[in-house]
Amino acid sequence: MAFPSSDARLDDISRYRERVFAQPLAQSLNRDEITGFLKTLPPHRFVPAAYSRRNGIPCIQPRGGFPRFESQLLLTRQLDEAGADFIPLTIDSYTRHNQYDTADQLLLRSEDEEKDYLNGYPLISHGFQLTRELFTGIDKPISLRHGTPDARLLVETAIASGIVEIEGGGICYCVPYSEGFPLDRSLLYWQYVDRICALYSTAERPIHRESFGPLTATMVPPAIVIAVQIIEALLAAEQGVLSFAVSFGQTGSMIQDVATARVLRNLTREYLDLFGFSDMKIFLVYHQWMGQFPHHRGKAAALICGATLISSMIGADKIVVKTVDEALGVPSASVNADAVESVRYLLKVYRCAQPLTSPFVDYEAELVESEARAVLQSIFDLPGDVFWESVFRAFRLGQLDIPFSPHADSANRLLSMRDVNGSIRIVDRGSVPISDLDAKRELKLMSAKTVQPEKSYLQLLADINMMMD
Ligand code: 5AD
Repeated sequence: MAFPSSDARLDDISRYRERVFAQPLAQSLNRDEITGFLKTLPPHRFVPAAYSRRNGIPCIQPRGGFPRFESQLLLTRQLDEAGADFIPLTIDSYTRHNQYDTADQLLLRSEDEEKDYLNGYPLISHGFQLTRELFTGIDKPISLRHGTPDARLLVETAIASGIVEIEGGGICYCVPYSEGFPLDRSLLYWQYVDRICALYSTAERPIHRESFGPLTATMVPPAIVIAVQIIEALLAAEQGVLSFAVSFGQTGSMIQDVATARVLRNLTREYLDLFGFSDMKIFLVYHQWMGQFPHHRGKAAALICGATLISSMIGADKIVVKTVDEALGVPSASVNADAVESVRYLLKVYRCAQPLTSPFVDYEAELVESEARAVLQSIFDLPGDVFWESVFRAFRLGQLDIPFSPHADSANRLLSMRDVNGSIRIVDRGSVPISDLDAKRELKLMSAKTVQPEKSYLQLLADINMMMD
C-alpha cells in the first residue's frame, strides 16, 4: 500500500535537474538569478493574493497566445484593461510537444510574413529575458496554459519569466491528449515540475499549481474528475507545493455542477488534511464549456453566459472563459477582451453570496461523494512503493477510466450517458470500483429517460453534442 506522503519528495532533484539544464536551450537559466528575480515581484503578482482580492466574485481567467512578441504584448495589455484577474500565456502546440526547432522555424515565418503560423506563444523560442518584458507594469498573476506531458524545460523557463501559476498535471495533461506518451513518464516529469514549483516558493510568493479537471471534456462522470483532481493535489502536496487549485468543467447540468463543486472542494480539503498536508491552500476553478462550441456567435455567447452564472452559483474562486469565436479558432485580442468584459459584467450583476443548494443537489452530491471515495480508496489499497505507482496501476486496471481518452493506457470500459437533467450518469462502470448500490442509483436516475438499446449510440452522440447548434 502506498499512501501519499512527503517522504516521496524528490530530495535529490538536482540529479535530474542537471540533465534539463545541460540542454543548449537551458543555458541562460541561472537558478540564483531566478530566485532573486522572483523576490523583486510584489506579493500581489502571486496567486493567493489575487484570490484574496476577489471579494465574493469569481476571478476571471482568459486564455491567449500569439506567436509574435508584439501581438502577445498587445493581447496582454488588452486583457489587463478588460479586467482579467489572471493574465494568460498559452503555449503553441509544437512547444507543448517539445518540438522546439519547428516552433523556432514557424515563429520566424510568422515574423517574416506578419501572419500567425503557430497557435500560441513559443516560450522556449522567445526565451525568458524577452518574455519578462511582456509583464512589466502588470500587477496580476501570470498563468501558464499549455497541455504538455513533459513540461520540465517549459516550466523552468516559465518561472524564470515571472509566471507564477502553472496549469497541468501528470494525468490531466497526458491521458486526455496523447495516445502514445507513456503515463508513468508523464507522472514522473510532473513530479519534477511540482518539485521545482515548491523549490521556488516562499510563503508570501508561492508558485501556484492548477490541475485541469475537464479532462477529455466528453461525458466524464464527476466522480472520475474529483478522483483525478484529488490525486493531482496529493501528488503536488507530496512535492511541497503550497498553493493549488482543483478544477472542473461545465457539464451541461446545473444540478450536477453545483453538487460537484461542493464535493470537490470538501473532499480535496479532507484528503489533504488526512495525509498531513493541511498547510496547502486550496482553490476551486470552474471552466466554461470545454467541448465543441456552437458556431453561431449568439449561441456561443449564451453558453458563455450560462456558465458564468453557474460559476457564481457555486462560489468558484475563478472562472476560465471562452470566447464567441471558440468554434472558429484562435480568437483575436479584441474578441478575447470582450469575453472578459461580458463575464465581468455578468458576475457583477448576478452575485451569489453563498453556493446555491436544493434537495436534488444534496442527493447528487451524496452519490458523487460516495463514488469518488470508493475510487480513491481502491487506489490507496493498490500495491506500489510510492503513490504515483498506485495511480499508474489504477489506470492499467481500469479503476481510473476517462471516457473518450485516446490514451493507450485508458481502459475505455466505463460508459456514460445523460439523464433528463443533462447530468452525466454512469451506465456501465467497467472496472471503476463504485459500489453496487451506487451503480444501481446511477441506473435509477437514468430510468426516467427511455433509451432504446439499438439506438443507444445515437443517443450518446446526441448527449455529446448537446451544446451544438
Ligand atoms: N489563444 C486563446 N485561446 C486559446 N485556446 C487555445 N489556444 C489559444 C490561444 N492561442 C483556448 C481554446 C481551447 C482551450 C483549450 O484553450 O478555447 O479550446
